[in-house]
Amino acid sequence: MVFYPCPEASDRLLTKEATRRESMSTHEQARPSEGPRRATQVRRIFSEIAPRYDLLNHLLSLNVDRRWRRRAIDELEWEKRPEGIYLDACAGTFDLSLELAGRDGFNGRILASDFARPMLVEGRHKLGDLPILPVCGDSQQLPFPDDHFDGAMVAFGVRNLADLSRGLREFARVLKPGCRLVILEFSEPPNPVLRRLYLLYFRRILPFVGRVVSGHPWAYTYLPESVKEFPDPAELGQLMKEAGFEEASWALLTGGIAALHVGKR
Ligand SMILES: C[S@@+](CC[C@H](N)C(=O)[O-])C[C@H]1O[C@@H](n2cnc3c(N)ncnc32)[C@H](O)[C@@H]1O
Repeated sequence: MVFYPCPEASDRLLTKEATRRESMSTHEQARPSEGPRRATQVRRIFSEIAPRYDLLNHLLSLNVDRRWRRRAIDELEWEKRPEGIYLDACAGTFDLSLELAGRDGFNGRILASDFARPMLVEGRHKLGDLPILPVCGDSQQLPFPDDHFDGAMVAFGVRNLADLSRGLREFARVLKPGCRLVILEFSEPPNPVLRRLYLLYFRRILPFVGRVVSGHPWAYTYLPESVKEFPDPAELGQLMKEAGFEEASWALLTGGIAALHVGKR
């Protein structure tokens, strides 16, 4: 297994940021930070919840997340390049990579990058002999050359980026022309009744269950907060085009709880 080293300097930043936040209320800590502090906040959250991440992921989504990831891989067009090299950005504990690597006929390789090393370490036991290489890397500054990948995918990662457009430009840069980027991300249902019910769950029940099970006081409050301020599906599609994707389309999943975007470089 190859890990590109995560810079030690950023670990020192995590400690400094944790100290700075000690005096804040839970709600203040959960609010998505602006600018460069966002990366430190996000790395801290995922580094701290890594041991409970998979359990809570499937529990809180009632396993629907597995179906969404299958849909994302269906849209990647990997069948056109089954021996290609694929990027899973913000890979976490590798669930999206595993979905692709497990497809019949897939003979390629997947570079699974994330900047929270504990997430990669936590998911390591799932990899076995599969062609998935974990890489410690920031999605806003990917450690890969231009025109390198035959496809790229991100599940529940882009909403965490401090500079979304910069991240999208990075995905465009590392993709070969004509290849696809698929983005799976949380959204909020457009139907007012469903939206009301969902937001009750998402903003009240989920943070409570997340807090009890993970033991983390605010990580699962950050989740709905980060979705609240994320661009809606049409805006994200527009940002993808501006970042260099020729085509960008999207579909709402499960009434709009999640959205799946597909861009062609
Ligand atoms: C909600 S988890 C999703 C993990 C995985 N993709 C999945 O489907 O379960 C978000 C992941 O994105 C990572 N992440 C967020 N911002 C990042 C960045 N700028 N660079 C690299 N990884 C990032 C976090 O460390 C975390 O592991």
